[in-house]
Amino acid sequence: MQIIPQALFPSMVWTTLFDDREAFNASLLQRALELRQRDPAGVQNTNIHGWQSLNILQELPEFNDINLRILQICDRIGESLNFRPGMQFLLQSWLNISPPGASNKLHFHANCHFSGVYYISLKAPECGSIYFRDPRVASRMLTYPVDKVSDFTAEEIRMRPEEGRIYVFPGWLEHGVEENTSDRDRIGISFNVLAAPQGS
Ligand SMILES: [Fe+2]
Repeated sequence: MQIIPQALFPSMVWTTLFDDREAFNASLLQRALELRQRDPAGVQNTNIHGWQSLNILQELPEFNDINLRILQICDRIGESLNFRPGMQFLLQSWLNISPPGASNKLHFHANCHFSGVYYISLKAPECGSIYFRDPRVASRMLTYPVDKVSDFTAEEIRMRPEEGRIYVFPGWLEHGVEENTSDRDRIGISFNVLAAPQGS
């Protein structure tokens, strides 16, 4: 008797590592630090002890390069999901600087098809992992008696951030970032992308 598993309603995380990450990040880091200098107070959102910019990177020409890459990646993902042709992708992006001791609490992003983060600078693994919480809410009523968790039985899944890697996931997938226990800032650009019909 063959028992065949089939995954239903999978939760995806898409990632890609930029080939030119070293030069790209060196330049991006400079612009990130300048942005913080212009607004040292930043905003308080999901960040605990960290600095976060306003959601304005999409309006700043000096961040055009990373914004364009985010949009291109989301466009490609949309294509793979059979999005209708002619959609425009509306972006909001912001900068997070998490010094040692800082973290991002568990949250999700409403009203966007894709959310994600691109890591400019960090010291792994001490900088803390990004973690995702099982979105199958009713599954929290009972845990499975397993010695080793699998994708099916896991309640949380951690991914170790990597400099130069972008992580994209559905906005509804709850996530957070662990405390930065390294001696360096964890610096990343986060974003929301909504696919909307042209002209809307
Ligand atoms: Fe987030």
